[in-house]
Amino acid sequence: MVKIISMFNNKGGVSKTTTSMNLGWMLAQKGYRTLLVDADPQSNLTSLTLSLSDDDDARELFYQKRDSNDIWRLASNYKQPNPEIAGEIANIISTAQDNLFILPGYIQIEEFSTTITLALELGGSKQFEYLAKVPGYLNYALRRIADIHKLDYIIVDMAPSLSGLNEVLLMGSDFFIAPCRPDFFSEIAIKNLATIIPDWHKTVSNFKTDYPLPCKPVFLGLIQQNYRPRRVNEDDDKNKPAKSFQKWIDRIRTTTNSILIPELKKLDIVISEEKFKAAVQNAIPYDLAYISDFNSLVAAAQDFNKPIFTLTQEELKKYTNLFGHALRTANENVEKFQETFSSLADSVIGLTQ
Ligand SMILES: Nc1ncnc2c1ncn2[C@@H]1O[C@H](COP(=O)(O)OP(=O)(O)O)[C@@H](O)[C@H]1O
Ligand SMILES: [Mg+2]
Repeated sequence: MVKIISMFNNKGGVSKTTTSMNLGWMLAQKGYRTLLVDADPQSNLTSLTLSLSDDDDARELFYQKRDSNDIWRLASNYKQPNPEIAGEIANIISTAQDNLFILPGYIQIEEFSTTITLALELGGSKQFEYLAKVPGYLNYALRRIADIHKLDYIIVDMAPSLSGLNEVLLMGSDFFIAPCRPDFFSEIAIKNLATIIPDWHKTVSNFKTDYPLPCKPVFLGLIQQNYRPRRVNEDDDKNKPAKSFQKWIDRIRTTTNSILIPELKKLDIVISEEKFKAAVQNAIPYDLAYISDFNSLVAAAQDFNKPIFTLTQEELKKYTNLFGHALRTANENVEKFQETFSSLADSVIGLTQ
């Protein structure tokens, strides 16, 4: 059975999109059939995975033609008299990586999100009965697509908002991960999650419809990402954060454990500490991974539309004009990120079994 994992944090710029791509790619490399779902109207994940990011014309053409399925089309299919998931509406797009597929994003999903909010408010009443299908349909459709394409994982890249779309995506997920940046704003965002998630849980679980949502999104942990590493000596651990970042990493973990986790426990939607410790190496609950600043590698990866950890020596050379010691260091960093994402994927596989 497919496992749906959402990347959720209502704060923007915390690596939700980047992590969706990198984790999805790594799961696919390890042989798991994985679908990326771009649920952000900005559709950055679609541009990244389909190599549309540095070419405005290609992106425009892709959206003008619109001859493939996308999240908005799929979600809107509930309007059909018989909203089956077959033919075109079941299509997903292959990417440059074997086993990795994408359901593209589309700007109009933002408007649709308002319909979901309305449906959650009014869909229970007789007069607006036709809205009752709206909140759960997308989740039903994604799970049908997973059956048809024999998917192991669906990774949902959510927009940074508290929209109705995010509400139903989260309540339709089996698991969720909260990407964070070690700073004050991420700490506030984590505190917000502690009230928002129980609110959503209550609203959605009380909603009666033909397409019920499971309302069991189990929290797997935080990903603390994009900090400056501490490098004083050559042989220092390359992943260790600089002091100022370590302070925020610790604070966000403490706030998560003291404020968010108790709320999730009440709803029985958090992975147990024992299971976490058994599956995640070298981390304190609920820090699922520590991922430092990609530095100059980020530009190269975006240019080649692939994850940092797949950059070859040739690509690095071509992109950066580096040679000698600097090229060796860049290569070492690629290897370091390869290890980091491989162990993140292993942790996720272990936790979701
Ligand atoms: N570990 C990292 N090191 C450096 N830059 C990063 C890292 N993770 C993400 N970024 C960059 O930060 C920006 C925001 O990341 P993104 O994944 O789009 O965040 P979100 O989806 O949460 O808004 C992007 O430009 C991305 O390339
Ligand atoms: Mg994003």
